[in-house]
Amino acid sequence: MARDTAEDWKRIGETEPWWGVLSAPEFLQANITEETKERFYAQGRDEMAWVMETLAQHFGAIKPDVGLDFGAGLGRLSFPMAHVCREVYGVDISPGMRQEAERQAQRREIQNVRFVDTVPDNLQSDWINSYIVFQHILPRMGYHILRSLCATLNPGGVASVHMTFAHDSRDNNTLVRDLLSWRFDGDTLTALENNEHRPGEQSMYDYDMNVVLMIFARAGIRDVLLRHTDHGGAHGYWFFGRKTH
Ligand SMILES: C[S@@+](CC[C@H](N)C(=O)[O-])C[C@H]1O[C@@H](n2cnc3c(N)ncnc32)[C@H](O)[C@@H]1O
Repeated sequence: MARDTAEDWKRIGETEPWWGVLSAPEFLQANITEETKERFYAQGRDEMAWVMETLAQHFGAIKPDVGLDFGAGLGRLSFPMAHVCREVYGVDISPGMRQEAERQAQRREIQNVRFVDTVPDNLQSDWINSYIVFQHILPRMGYHILRSLCATLNPGGVASVHMTFAHDSRDNNTLVRDLLSWRFDGDTLTALENNEHRPGEQSMYDYDMNVVLMIFARAGIRDVLLRHTDHGGAHGYWFFGRKTH
């Protein structure tokens, strides 16, 4: 049976929301301090400054009205988006994450971000953003989600979306955890049986970039810029693009 990653994130949001976003020991509940939390948000501001600069350099100045941050977590990236958008929707499946994100928005007097569990019906957006999220969702579901996010984009709207496509030997955690038996023919690894799932753990998956590029192309996002990421053996790309039609 396929892993229920939504259930995993619900549990992580209740138990270790900060570590669930940035998995370093200083973000565990036992260690976290107000100072570390500020560093957590400062890192998000730096990341989004780079994202905005990259979008502006390659696709021209951006003036988004409505922003959509998919897998918003604790608002680390939604808050900087709220500085340049009139309104931001931070979509996250985990109630614990959304609750803490709302608390943090209040503390920071940020009033133009709404944290919601799904993309609101008929939403039209000018910027879709997602970072270190799709990697945790089974690709067969992730492709549908990506399509639905792209469908919200207005012509001229921009995308900054991170997707993983391969792992190297430094990170075989999900593989070792999930495979009970497999078939390897020298080229292709096929799972035969899965280990029993222990809910509440993070998983890492790899997307087929042909499918991803086709989704962007069909959505009218045809000029795409890629920037490589490597998180300890998990290889991904930031996709930057603008919807032209
Ligand atoms: C590693 S965190 C990243 C949070 C945020 N993007 C950041 O960089 O600060 C991944 C987030 O994606 C959320 N998530 C996972 N699966 C999701 C889904 N199917 N729909 C919406 N959110 C999801 C999790 O609850 C979690 O908050």
